Parts: sequence; structure tokens; C-alpha cells
Amino acid sequence: MINIENLSYSYPDGTLALDSISLNILKGEFVTIAGKNGCGKSTLLRHINGLLQPGQGSVVVKGMDTCDLSNLQDIRRTAGMIFQDPQSQFIGMTVEEDIAFGPENLGLSSSEINRRVTEALESVGMSGHRHNTPRTLSGGQKQKVALASVLAMEPEIILFDEVTSMLDFSSRSDILDLIKQLHKTGTTIIYVTHLLEELVHADRLVLMEKGRVVQNGCPREIISKISSEDFGFDFPPIIELSKKLLDARIIDETSFPLSKDELLEAICPSK
Ligand SMILES: Nc1ncnc2c1ncn2[C@@H]1O[C@H](COP(=O)(O)OP(=O)(O)OP(=O)(O)O)[C@@H](O)[C@H]1O
Ligand SMILES: [Mg+2]
Repeated sequence: MINIENLSYSYPDGTLALDSISLNILKGEFVTIAGKNGCGKSTLLRHINGLLQPGQGSVVVKGMDTCDLSNLQDIRRTAGMIFQDPQSQFIGMTVEEDIAFGPENLGLSSSEINRRVTEALESVGMSGHRHNTPRTLSGGQKQKVALASVLAMEPEIILFDEVTSMLDFSSRSDILDLIKQLHKTGTTIIYVTHLLEELVHADRLVLMEKGRVVQNGCPREIISKISSEDFGFDFPPIIELSKKLLDARIIDETSFPLSKDELLEAICPSK
């Protein structure tokens, strides 16, 4: 679905943000991308939806090369992106107008546009704000409207750039449930996060460091072998405890517990 070959990119000021990245993402996969601040996660996502073009190498999305500018419109329809900063992405005077903007550009009928806006607002729990001005919403509410705008396009790939950082605990778990649901129904998910409890839901973890991919594989196995220093953020206590059990050989990498329930099961199995 997404083929990245030997991708390098430097910003105009000379900062090398991506350094020889090769990565293939399959249709329907749920991939998380993690790594310290400034390691290149957002820059990589911007390449996947064609906002940036490779300095070297190539990015091909569903057979479309992002270097070919005539593909850009189709690439952005295929891969919707929710940005780290929701402020930057509002265009409409009301929430409704904002979400309808994309589907209108697809030339859909007004009843289909209305259905998509209604469903997208329901999915993110923002139906009550349909006629509000996006400007007056809180950070977390803006993030949810940004997500609804992408959902209304019904893209095959959704790129999430640390979308839950502004959300409270309950909104965060609602949005994660929604993402899991989208994954179940076949959407390809690429999800940047610093939160370990979020990346355990993924099929695959890609860990970046200084513009390079340094780990790429099963989240459970990678987390069992890296330090919180490599990850870039503190591990939750459950993971620290699991690591002690692994060091003491009470558990092995393949059953490395990532949650409270898994830890309980590892220590005292129910059967
Ligand atoms: N517009 C820009 N101009 C110049 N350098 C940039 C620009 N945007 C990002 N960078 C640099 O490129 C590198 C990668 O940045 P990027 O935003 O991709 O990192 P990130 O992994 O998303 O970080 P964070 O976790 O803080 O969001 C950093 O060194 C950053 O300073
Ligand atoms: Mg970023």
C-alpha cells in the first residue's frame, strides 16, 4: 500500500530530518511510529500524504509516486492526515462547513455530504457542536473536528500525528476505540504516538532515531528489548516491572506483558 525506498529529506535550512528510510506498509495494517522529539516522525507522515516531496529516494502510495505532482490530489484523498497542531487546518466558518468542505470537493450529492458530516460528527462525539465556529472550540475539540473532517473523506489510509496529546483520558480512549474500529473495517492506520499504552494496539512498531528507522517489528518484542532511553520517554510502571520479570527469566519476550491484565496472567495464569 505504501512503499518508501531510501527516503532522505533536508529542510531548506539544511536540517537533515530523514536519512535513508525504507519502509513498506501493507493494506489494512496498523503501524505506530515512535521516537524522541525531532527524530522525524511528522516529516515522514508529511511525505506519505505528499505534503513534502523526497529529497532523495521515493514514496509510492497505492501505486502513485508522490514526486509526480499530477498524483497529489489522488494521494491526499487516499491518505488523510490529522496534524499534531489542529489549529492549522480549519477553513470553514462553522464546524459543519469545515467537515463538508472535503466531500463537496469530491462532487458528492448534498444528501451524501450530509450523511457523511452527520456520521463523522457522531463518531467523534461532536454532534452538539455542528453549528459552532471552529475558532471557539477548545484544543481537544478542534482535534476531534479535524479527525471528523478526515473521516468524512472516507480515506483508505489515515495518518495520525500525536492526535491524543490534547485529549482528556475519556476522549482519548473514545478516539482509540474509533481508530481500532476503523482498522477492523480495513482502513490502513499509521499512528504517531509517545504513549506506550497506545502503541500496543498496533500490528507493528517503527521506532525512529535521528531521521532513521532503528526498530521495525512486533511492538511487544521491541518494547521488551529497548530501554526507556531508546524509546525517548519513561515507561509506565507495568513495563518496568515486566522488564524485571524478564531479567529474572520468569517470563520471556514472546509473552512480555504490556498491560495490568497481561502481567497478572503471566504471574498467575488463570488455567
Ligand atoms: N519547517 C522546518 N524547517 C526546518 N527544520 C525543521 C522543520 N520542521 C521540522 N524540522 C526539523 O526536522 C527534524 C524532524 O522534525 P519532525 O517535526 O519531523 O520531528 P518529530 O519526530 O515529529 O518531533 P516531535 O515529537 O517533536 O513532534 C527536527 O530536527 C526539526 O527541528
Ligand atoms: Mg511531530
